[in-house]
Amino acid sequence: MTDISQAPAAMLTGFANHHATEAVAGALPIGRNSPQHVPFGLYAEQLSGSAFTAPRAENRHSWLYRMRPTTAHAPFHPYARQSRLRSGPFDEVPPSPNRLRWDPLPLPSEPVDFIDGLATYAGNGDAANGMGCGIHLYAANRSMEHRAFFSADGEMLILPQRGTLRIVTEMGVLRLAPLEMALIPRGVRFRVELVDGPARGYVCENYGAPFRLPELGPIGSNGLANPRDFEAPVAAFEDVEAPFEIVQKFSGALWTTTLDHSPFDVVAWHGNLAPVRYDLRRFNSIGSVSYDHPDPSIFTVLTSPSDTPGTAYVDFVIFPPRWMVAEETFRPPWFHRNIMSEYMGLLHGAYEAKAGGFVPGGASLHNCMSGHGPDAASYRQAVAAELAPHKIEDSMAFMFESRHVLRPTRWAMETPLLQADYDDCWSGFARARLPAHGEDAA
Ligand code: FE2
Repeated sequence: MTDISQAPAAMLTGFANHHATEAVAGALPIGRNSPQHVPFGLYAEQLSGSAFTAPRAENRHSWLYRMRPTTAHAPFHPYARQSRLRSGPFDEVPPSPNRLRWDPLPLPSEPVDFIDGLATYAGNGDAANGMGCGIHLYAANRSMEHRAFFSADGEMLILPQRGTLRIVTEMGVLRLAPLEMALIPRGVRFRVELVDGPARGYVCENYGAPFRLPELGPIGSNGLANPRDFEAPVAAFEDVEAPFEIVQKFSGALWTTTLDHSPFDVVAWHGNLAPVRYDLRRFNSIGSVSYDHPDPSIFTVLTSPSDTPGTAYVDFVIFPPRWMVAEETFRPPWFHRNIMSEYMGLLHGAYEAKAGGFVPGGASLHNCMSGHGPDAASYRQAVAAELAPHKIEDSMAFMFESRHVLRPTRWAMETPLLQADYDDCWSGFARARLPAHGEDAA
């Protein structure tokens, strides 16, 4: 028997694989999903992460076998506490064409858990229409106790920047340290426990098509994030009869109800819809071994596609440690203006295109067609550098990139964390010197 407090380190491997796991031997029905008599009197429940009729390759669903049906709860009521969590449509303030950058989200001074520690920076689309995303940070200094959270609006990609989390979900336990990511499916209840003190991190709440591995095209059958490195938990449960608050995010608002038992009472499950963990350090970075800096899409970990081929609602992209060897090449990210909108965060170390001001726990937003790229100091350094093989080490930046403008929240535009002088990092570039009339261009 595996209860939550003793959940083993063993994990099930593979992205969207069809897993089968039971915390009590014999709990998982054999040969059918919904027998007349479920072992031990458990209740069978299907959790659908895609429409029933979604193509087989897109179809995500699992069967859960639990001690009490999820249906047994009183009505939800609006959540009364103050929250900085926001949801699409994002129309609190007009979206700004300016480049935006924020200092790190401070850790709280009062007791705050993961739910109340969420602050939304930006997003797009509409949660109710299943399109777009919300981008949040969390800063928390205590574990969630006797309460659980789920989002009916989207799956949640969680990136700890500071502090190890123990995420107890209906389907098992994920231990999640900085430089790892978790993906919690829409609707799956979870609680976040802090293992080693105050915690901070980033969250992308994806309202759209579930994240999946990108196609590899000419790269071939291996590379980038490899499927077997994604880990789902084995089944684990707790049998606790005590008041337990369930907070859900539904169509943009928070709602709450109280159960008389723990919702983490799933004794067995099978299916291909489950929370997963991935160690970003396992990413197989691919880059130029000749010249030029490839497009950053080469660093895509997961993508949420739209109905336009190659044009994602959200791409999750990382910039991990890697060798830089390109010849006769400006090696940092180049200047560019992008039709896609880019929200960036820093999990660890420094980012090669910014000499200062962009620090772990901070963030930047470069929306559609806003010019950005290396700051003046990084540019001068890269132009002067001797192009020997060079390893970028101790760094992990990431980007949530979207086909739609990322609209900041009112809080994000009014917080003193917003850097008033961000544009200054691009001042001081010397004017190009064209040859004078009659002068040899060489
Ligand atoms: Fe960019």
